[in-house]
Amino acid sequence: MTVKHRTQVGIVGAGPAGLLLSHLLALGGVDSIVIEARSRAYCEARQRAGMLESTTVQLLRAVGLGRRLDAEGLEHDGIYLQFGGERHHVNFRELTGGRWVTIYAQTEIVKDLIRARTADRAALEFEVSETEVAGLDSDHPVLRYTDSAGQRHEVTCDAIAGCDGFHGICRPAIPRGGLRLVAERSYPYGWLGILAKAPPSTDEVIYCRHEDGFALHSMRTPEVGRLYLQVPADEDITRWPDDRIWDELQRRLGVPGWELQTGPILEKGITPMRSFVATPMQYRRMYLAGDAAHIVPPTGAKGLNLAVADVAALATALIRLLRDGNPALADAYSEHCLERVWRATHLAWWMTAMMHVVPGQDPFESALQLAQLRNLVTSRAAATMLAENYTGYAPLRYDPATRVVPTPLWPWVA
Ligand code: FAD
Ligand code: DHB
Repeated sequence: MTVKHRTQVGIVGAGPAGLLLSHLLALGGVDSIVIEARSRAYCEARQRAGMLESTTVQLLRAVGLGRRLDAEGLEHDGIYLQFGGERHHVNFRELTGGRWVTIYAQTEIVKDLIRARTADRAALEFEVSETEVAGLDSDHPVLRYTDSAGQRHEVTCDAIAGCDGFHGICRPAIPRGGLRLVAERSYPYGWLGILAKAPPSTDEVIYCRHEDGFALHSMRTPEVGRLYLQVPADEDITRWPDDRIWDELQRRLGVPGWELQTGPILEKGITPMRSFVATPMQYRRMYLAGDAAHIVPPTGAKGLNLAVADVAALATALIRLLRDGNPALADAYSEHCLERVWRATHLAWWMTAMMHVVPGQDPFESALQLAQLRNLVTSRAAATMLAENYTGYAPLRYDPATRVVPTPLWPWVA
């Protein structure tokens, strides 16, 4: 037998997008359910992003999620750009008049969100299977799933939020013709990422273009480093024993007088790189947010920040629709988000193209990469363009009076 329920918003996926959306909706007085295919432990341990724009940090603080972020996050003024054996600091705080970036792992954001939703007695179900969305042509779409005990459920909703990542079921459920444009590009390389019990050998993140490929030195805590190496897209991880990874990182990141501290590697994995944008990000009353709608290559650190900005807009739109009876923002959701998504897609594509080197690369290509990097470290205007795009776009300021995030980028709707 199927158990039937009713809620206002059915959310598929308990990644950062789905969890934050349910938190923001609750603040605005809108009910939701979040269903997630994986276990809570898996979601809390999945190693991914770590770099937050200051706009993301400000929003998380304003909605009661800043306590551990403020205590444990590592606030950085900018980044280092390294090329041709030279390392240059780009000070975002100075260039943007106060914006910064914070290192705080996605795992920790997910833990904070799950704790907050659980404390709020939110409807949040892990380890569900056979998730389906139906009735997408009506004003009451339906979410169906089987819970971890094998019980089938059917939830009638006023809206569905597809926050189920790139491989989720919501985007493919959009009827033929419902997506106008699916823009995609894959890159011939991936990132081999490690998490290591080795104190970071840098105070701020280093993006390094080296003749043998890109390397990135990031961190998680003062004791744990997070580092990445460009490898071929189809690379076999077994070809990278720990010693080879450390040797290659030292070779690519090395500058005179600097030593890379090494230590036990706690985790390693290879991530392919692609750009993907689905347009529009909504089909009637089903809205896509985060990686379900778009993927950027990780150079530029935009994926998680875009997911946060999407759901800030979506929560506002759904609260206006379902609490206040005003559909204007919900109708404009996709158009609003895509402006920022394409700007971030451009930044990620540009940084990726500038920093990665493929074997046998055309010398013309290499000279253009170096000319752009040289321009960034010698021209204040060029560095400001990077700083503005890297640290975030329009502010995400929560307004406690209306319990929504006002949307200054939507001049055409009240
Ligand atoms: P996800 O985190 O993918 O969450 C989707 C959830 O939906 C998952 O929990 C999944 O299990 C669930 N789900 C899927 N299908 C179903 C189903 N049928 N039923 C129920 N649940 C389902 N971004 C940055 O901003 N900064 C960075 O520094 C950065 N670095 C990165 C480094 C790496 C190595 C990687 C891989 C990504 C990085 N990103 C970064 C990108 C960032 O991690 C993602 O953009 C972010 O996870 C998107 O969040 P999301 O909630 O949209 O999707
Ligand atoms: C991290 C990841 C990124 O993609 C990036 O551009 C910077 C930092 C990180 O995992 O810390």
